[in-house]
Amino acid sequence: MVNEPSGKPAWVYDRDHEWTALSNFARSASPRARLGIVSGRRRQGKTFLLRALAEATGAFYYAAAEATTADSLRDLGSALAAHTGAALPYAIRDWNEAVGAIRETLAGGLAIIDEFPYLTRADPALPSLLQRVLDDQAWGRQAPGTKFLLCGSAMSVMGGLLAGNAPLRGRSALELLVAPFDYRTAARFWGIENDPVLAVLVHAIVGGTPAYRSEFVADDAPASRDDFDDWVSRTVLNPAVPLFREARYLLAEETDIREPALYNSVLGAIATGNATSGGIANYVGRKSSEVTHPLTVLEDAGLITREADPFHARKSLYRISEPLITFYEAIMRPAWPQLERRQAKAVWRRQRSTFLSQVVGPHFEALCREWATQAGEEVFAGFPAEVAGTAIPDPGNRTQIQVDVAVLSAGTPEEPRRVLSLGEAKWGEVMGLGHLDRLRRARDLLSVKKHRAADAILACYGGAGFTPELTATAAADPHVLLVDLNRLYQEPDQQPED
Ligand SMILES: Nc1ncnc2c1ncn2[C@@H]1O[C@H](COP(=O)(O)OP(=O)(O)OP(=O)(O)O)[C@@H](O)[C@H]1O
Ligand SMILES: [Mg+2]
Repeated sequence: MVNEPSGKPAWVYDRDHEWTALSNFARSASPRARLGIVSGRRRQGKTFLLRALAEATGAFYYAAAEATTADSLRDLGSALAAHTGAALPYAIRDWNEAVGAIRETLAGGLAIIDEFPYLTRADPALPSLLQRVLDDQAWGRQAPGTKFLLCGSAMSVMGGLLAGNAPLRGRSALELLVAPFDYRTAARFWGIENDPVLAVLVHAIVGGTPAYRSEFVADDAPASRDDFDDWVSRTVLNPAVPLFREARYLLAEETDIREPALYNSVLGAIATGNATSGGIANYVGRKSSEVTHPLTVLEDAGLITREADPFHARKSLYRISEPLITFYEAIMRPAWPQLERRQAKAVWRRQRSTFLSQVVGPHFEALCREWATQAGEEVFAGFPAEVAGTAIPDPGNRTQIQVDVAVLSAGTPEEPRRVLSLGEAKWGEVMGLGHLDRLRRARDLLSVKKHRAADAILACYGGAGFTPELTATAAADPHVLLVDLNRLYQEPDQQPED
């Protein structure tokens, strides 16, 4: 990393942007900086960052537990006393007093309250009470007032704090989402950035969640590509390693659901290649309308995403955003009893080809879409505003052409959106002129339908490389782009300019 932001401890990997936002908030003297919200799925390093922030700025840090209000207040009283060095814990009877005590002891400082959803669950009036305090403070212009940083992971609860007519809506000066590391950062974090093939395979299982390297496998990273199979058997498929059960816990922890079986089946449907709500409903054996709610809950929890089809206004595709869940549903769940009997090696031998086709193949497509999203303006001769997968009907051949990476510009009233690029991604197959022809046909079909696609760059994303013919064609034609694994893993600011 070139510029370490000031004050960030060396043991906090990456997160420069998050650190800068947090320390600016902590140091801000503006009377408007009164409330900040930090959210993100479990295990992404929220607590890790906030503890580092508290240490660097002297802020008060308090992590709530799942407890009754009385218990939490007692706990908070002790934490405040520990922070100020008082001999006796503060006696606090209700949240009014608690907030008062925090304001008095910190007088202008920062209070970080982690696991905030535990507190609101026990006491739903807490957000409106905080709202009143913050508004009084704003009214009185007692500069600088006490700042509150609320943190939590139950995404729907944290999101709900700021939604619509929620009391704290419009009062926060910072809304920070701590997301998984992107795939390039993840490769560096795992120390495997020099082998992009290995990096893709590992990312297809553990994604970008920092804790999956540290706490969940005790820093066990595959030593080389040859070590990969053994690494899978000794970590994620090993019942003695915490990562083994993580996918099951994730679903239970992230969502407040009453029918886990239905949610599991919905995820299983998506993991095995059903991306439309109709396809998912069919797989699950329910009516389309019955899977709408689970899909919304999973989306709110950040476990799945919905990608609108750029060429069919009413169609969208669902994708699982946490690789570990896809891996669990496609590879582990069908073999669960055998895995629990510690037969990881046998299971993996049987499931390895399924892993490559059902997990890595689609995952590679997703990585290529991510790459395209971050591509600079020069790559596709325009700023990529929308990147999605789609299927283009080919009536002449009575089929559809799969386009894994369609890139579109933002439309304006003066200039309708343009199709900047159409791309196909292949993980295990050398790409050749046939792939290019299909993309060309997709481009022509779109142009016939009056989409502005004539100048679209035809992109081949090849995990296994390209034939010499395709390489030669690409070298001669600026409308043909080949992206190999090295390019995929180059940092965006190091991409070649041509
Ligand atoms: N930036 C980072 N650099 C190095 N390690 C990290 C980083 N972020 C997280 N980790 C590792 O991941 C672990 C889990 O992080 P942490 O407990 O902070 O997650 P969290 O988002 O608070 O999760 P939860 O919602 O479950 O409380 C940390 O203990 C640490 O080992
Ligand atoms: Mg935490």
